[in-house]
This record gives sequence, structure tokens and C-alpha cells, in this order.
Amino acid sequence: MKMILDLDTGIDDAFALAYAIAHPDIELIGITGTYGNVTVEQGMANTQALLELLGQPEIPVYAGATVAGFEVSEASARIHGADGVGNVDIAAEKADSAGDAVEFLIASAAKYGEDLVVVPTGAQTTLARALEQDETLRSIRMVSMGGALTVPGNVSPAAEANISQDPHSSNTVYQLAEDMTMVGLDVTMQTQLTRAEADSWRGSAAGDVFADMAGDYIDAYQDNNPHMEGCALHDPLAVAVAADPDLVDCLILPLQVDTEGPTIGRTIGRWEGTDVETRVAVGVDVDTFVPDFIDKLAQLFGRLAQSR
Ligand code: BDR
Ligand code: CA
Repeated sequence: MKMILDLDTGIDDAFALAYAIAHPDIELIGITGTYGNVTVEQGMANTQALLELLGQPEIPVYAGATVAGFEVSEASARIHGADGVGNVDIAAEKADSAGDAVEFLIASAAKYGEDLVVVPTGAQTTLARALEQDETLRSIRMVSMGGALTVPGNVSPAAEANISQDPHSSNTVYQLAEDMTMVGLDVTMQTQLTRAEADSWRGSAAGDVFADMAGDYIDAYQDNNPHMEGCALHDPLAVAVAADPDLVDCLILPLQVDTEGPTIGRTIGRWEGTDVETRVAVGVDVDTFVPDFIDKLAQLFGRLAQSR
């Protein structure tokens, strides 16, 4: 399958990128840059530096939309580091855009049709604009990381971080995307990477960088969630579900996002006002996904070390 990742790169976005590159069933045709953990520019620079590290510098990165006045929150900087990648040294200074992300999404939908899957793992502003402009894109398969249906949010009791960046756009996305699976905190908080597992990647340039990033992310998780043994694998789980939908059990609901009031940013099933339904993941096969994720990254890092 052809895949487009919409990333706010971010440590777990970096994991998603590596997992997509490592996965034999996925051909990553491009990255669109969004915001959240970092600005669009910082995220694109991080993505390009990581693509270089992972031996795929030719994959194009497209500039997505942002919102006026966006600033990285204190919590994001604490969790992902001021540069978004745990302050590891990957020389992510400058971003070169291959073009406009909305145009790339629309052109890819026309070109690849049902072979394409779009996986947004940050703020959904760009995707909403593209869906508003293009009907073909509405029928494309999508798997989004974001939201929380049966568990509390992580930026407020109601809201998950990606949805809370731009609740209006996310509401548009879930109203227009006709083939959408939501992979939210309901399932991603069950998939965890421990320090020992991340340290098993060490021994190559890329493996060391990813183990360092994971270490930083796990430190932040232990401050915020002392009951957890590691960090959550939010964004890579969305990639895994795109490759293997059977990894999750879903409720099928007309999903909407609250755009005002005390529950702003909440994802909720609500029948009035829409006839588009979303598959919302509420159960996940942790024992299949987590070892596969660790293993595929280890194999990728091993192959890269041998080819240098
Ligand atoms: C989501 O928010 C971001 O911090 C992560 O990269 C992930 O996409 C988790 O709520
Ligand atoms: Ca993300």
C-alpha cells in the first residue's frame, strides 16, 4: 500500500516514521508536515533529518497548514524536548518543502485511489482543508491517531492533544472522511515501550538515536504517569493499524468533536448532524503489535548499520 504520514515530528511521530519505513507492506510516498509537538517548520526539519538517518532522504516532505498564533506548549516541550526529538543530535536545522501539502494529498488521492492510506498523527488542519476541497480524498482510507472515546483526554479531562490543537478541523475531518479509523488514547495507552526494550536497539547510529529519544520520552512519561512502565506508542500504532486493521476492535459511530464549552476537543459519538461513520478503536492486540514494532525497528537499524 502507498502511505502518506501527516506528522508533527515529535518522538512517537519519529517512531511512526521508522516503523512505516521498516514495514515491508508499506511504501511511504510522502510526508506532510503539521504542528502540535512542534511547529510545522521544526517538524519538517526533524522529519528530513530522520529520513536522512534512516537512509530514505528521497522521500518528499510537504509543508502543511498551521494556525495563527500557534506556540508549542510547555507540556509538549517537556514531553518531546524543545526541538521535538528529545534534544538528540540529528542536525534538524532547516526544512525544504517539496510543495504544498493540501495539493499533494489531493493529487495522491487522484493518482492512487484505493491503494492509498493517509495517517495523520498531529493537528488535523491540513487534512481538513484538503477534504473540504476534494471529494475523491473523502473516499480514501485513513487511520488517525487522536481522540479519546472511553478514557480521559491527556490535555484536559475531555481532550486528547492532537484533537485539542484544532477541534474545528478535526470535527470537519470526522464528518467528511468516509473511510476513517480513529486510533485514540483508548488503545494507544495500552501499547507501551520500556527502557530495556528501547535499549535493545543500541549498537548502530540510528539505533542509538532512537534509544536516546525513547529514553527521554520515557522519563517524561514516568513524571506524568508513574504507574506506567514505559512510554505509549501512540503514532506507530496508527501506522500498524493501517497495515493490519485486524490489530484493533472497533465501535462504529458517527464521530464528532466538541468545538466549544468545557468539553472542547472531546471526541464523541453523536447521531444528529452527520451520516458519516468512523471506526473507533477500543481494543488492541498488544502482544502482536508491541513485539512487532520493536523487532521491525531493530531489523531496520541492523540493515542500515550493515549498509554503511
Ligand atoms: C499525540 O499527541 C502528540 O504529543 C503525540 O505525538 C501523539 O500524536 C498523543 O496524544
Ligand atoms: Ca504526533
